[in-house]
Amino acid sequence: MKKIAAFNWKMKPTSLDEAQKTIKAHKKWAKKYPGVQVITAPPTPFIKGLIRDPNPVSLSGQNISVYLDGAHTGNSSAAMLREIGCTYTIVGHSERRAMFNVTSEIVSKKAVMALEQGLTPIICFGESTRDEKGRYIDEITDQLLESLAGIPDKHISKIVLAYEPIWAIGAGAKRAVTTDELFSTIILIKNILNKRYGPARTNKIPILYGGSVKAHNAEELAAVNGVDGFLVGGASHIEDHFKAIIKSLS
Ligand code: PGA
Repeated sequence: MKKIAAFNWKMKPTSLDEAQKTIKAHKKWAKKYPGVQVITAPPTPFIKGLIRDPNPVSLSGQNISVYLDGAHTGNSSAAMLREIGCTYTIVGHSERRAMFNVTSEIVSKKAVMALEQGLTPIICFGESTRDEKGRYIDEITDQLLESLAGIPDKHISKIVLAYEPIWAIGAGAKRAVTTDELFSTIILIKNILNKRYGPARTNKIPILYGGSVKAHNAEELAAVNGVDGFLVGGASHIEDHFKAIIKSLS
């Protein structure tokens, strides 16, 4: 399994010109490290105008509707993203869970829709706080199982998981997880999946880590056993960071 570097641009940049520069640089470093699968998720309005041939990067949406089409103002469907060249889509990002009341049940529906339309869903989940009483363990367990609930067992290994603790995400985050925290959480996630889907299927599901992955910590986080790649936010726009992140996974 190739390690995955997935870049979530969020709602940046504001110009197509800048977006083109970013995608060009993502392509450049993806070419340099062909052993790493680079997935890039620009803002939807830019995707079509970015590049004719995304190779060797794969294009991803940042979100999809639970519906295929219809009266859903402001939404984009999995089929539409597929039509403009995407092969992946992020679903259940914590920012969307928080800002748009996206529940795990809705995330599961989006994941099913993505799979039905030929997109690989990158399903995000993660605790809001890491309390000392271990309540975060229940939060992760519930969120993960509910977000996967609608996916038929036989398709479960077609997804990508992104463990993103909310407290570690974005500009306001104080720090990323430590390698110990990450390792124990990956074991927890694998145990949950093993119990529900069995080891043969579980072993095929890539588990990414996301939250304050930067040039300075990519190497040590990439070395944590069980980490199959990263989902990167802010550093997606800064070449010194994303080249180091891609390299750390090579
Ligand atoms: P960050 O965001 O890398 O800026 O912490 C990660 C994410 O939101 O996916």
